[in-house]
Amino acid sequence: MKVRKAVFPVAGLGTRFLPATKSTPKEMLPLIDKPLVQYVVEEAVAAGIEQVLFVTGRSKRALEDHFDIAPELESLLYDKGKDKELSQVRQIAEMVNIFYVRQKQALGLGHAILCAKEFVCDEPFAVLLGDDIIDSRIPCLSQLLKVYERHGGTVLALEKVPMENISAYGCVRATPLEDRVYEVLDMVEKPKKSEAPSDLAIIGRYVLTPGIFPILEKQEPGKGGEIQITDAIRTLAHDEPIFGYEFDGVRHDCGDKLGFLKATVDMALKRAEFNGDFLEFLRQRLGPLDNMELKKVNAS
Ligand code: UTP
Repeated sequence: MKVRKAVFPVAGLGTRFLPATKSTPKEMLPLIDKPLVQYVVEEAVAAGIEQVLFVTGRSKRALEDHFDIAPELESLLYDKGKDKELSQVRQIAEMVNIFYVRQKQALGLGHAILCAKEFVCDEPFAVLLGDDIIDSRIPCLSQLLKVYERHGGTVLALEKVPMENISAYGCVRATPLEDRVYEVLDMVEKPKKSEAPSDLAIIGRYVLTPGIFPILEKQEPGKGGEIQITDAIRTLAHDEPIFGYEFDGVRHDCGDKLGFLKATVDMALKRAEFNGDFLEFLRQRLGPLDNMELKKVNAS
């Protein structure tokens, strides 16, 4: 069955990015000139998704407005003859059919996905996290959907991460099946480094089957007192196959300040309008830093 629907859980509190996220959704932070979540919606649309559900919470109005029409702004841009900007603004509202549901309390990613049950019905569906930006030639979700078309079941995006960082992720025990494809045998949410079954971390793209919902309905809170999707998929693995795909691309964890900074620099350097002046600015800044490093080495 074709995957037509995508769920975007965007109801998290974004505590790692406070105070910026006190009243602005984390997913609306701009990477250069586009909110993070727009990059991810564009990825979903490029992968053939026809309907998007945002699972929102309080303080997420800005996100709803961003994907709505903006009559005053549009007529102003029209009057000023700013055609390029006008078509950019219009295109956001026309990109895809968007639906909304509220997660009344931020009880965890698993709980946020459960809020999508009525929207999804009995179809396979995608889940995309709006703060994981994946820069790739082929959209990351298209890569997962290809695996889904071949094997069915649940498909998780995987990335090898340094073992010192593994306890920030869900981590899988898996055996390789074919190029980049794994059969996932077990998984654990945020393991201690010493207990992690591998260096393969689960990243913010999933293809899930509706079989996940009855499990989520009964799922007890796990790590951090939150209802974890990893725990529910672990139970689903008793009945359905779970696959992992080590996607081809560069992921930026933009829910984290350092990741966000790196993404901003990386994306800017890829754009012709910035790779002259901005590169020169970085060179100037890094020049003195290099000298400082040399001074430190000489002093020691
Ligand atoms: P994160 O843990 O990265 O987001 O959840 P967070 O909780 O907002 O951020 P921090 O850790 O406090 O800084 C992954 C994704 O799941 C969504 C978040 O919005 C994010 O996109 N989420 C998380 C929900 O929608 N609901 C929840 O209850 C928890």
